[in-house]
Amino acid sequence: MITFTLNNQTQSYSGDPQMPLLWYLRDAAGLTGTKYGCGMALCGACTVHIDGDATRSCRLPMAAVADKRITTIEGLDEKNAHPVQIAWAENDVPQCGYCQSGQMMQAAALLSANPSPTDEEIEQSMSGNICRCGTYPRIKKAIKAAAGSEKA
Ligand code: FES
Ligand code: FES
Repeated sequence: MITFTLNNQTQSYSGDPQMPLLWYLRDAAGLTGTKYGCGMALCGACTVHIDGDATRSCRLPMAAVADKRITTIEGLDEKNAHPVQIAWAENDVPQCGYCQSGQMMQAAALLSANPSPTDEEIEQSMSGNICRCGTYPRIKKAIKAAAGSEKA
């Protein structure tokens, strides 16, 4: 039995320990905000936080989440009012939206570790999150808007 915390709720899982966490999130927990993009840890669409660190859930086996604290986009803020979410809305960042929960989870982890990142630090941290709609300039603008916020 694998136990872990998902968005502040204790969960247990007794299935295949090699099943990717993303499958559990979407199919078992019904948390469909986290997206499947490449399935190869190359695009960032499936990014969640594991003990606060941005992590690709598509390649992370359930065995690796034992006793971990997992946060998805649904649990980032109970009122969907994390500074990153507010900045995303105010800057009209999404286009199709598919990549955006992963982008926000990556950005939230960046700002938690580094509340005032430089342009280079933003680019480096976000470089693994692909947006086929090319919203990169708005993503960067929103991260800067959220930077320095008390809750970031
Ligand atoms: S779906 Fe996980 S990185 Fe692309
Ligand atoms: S908003 Fe469409 S892929 Fe990023």
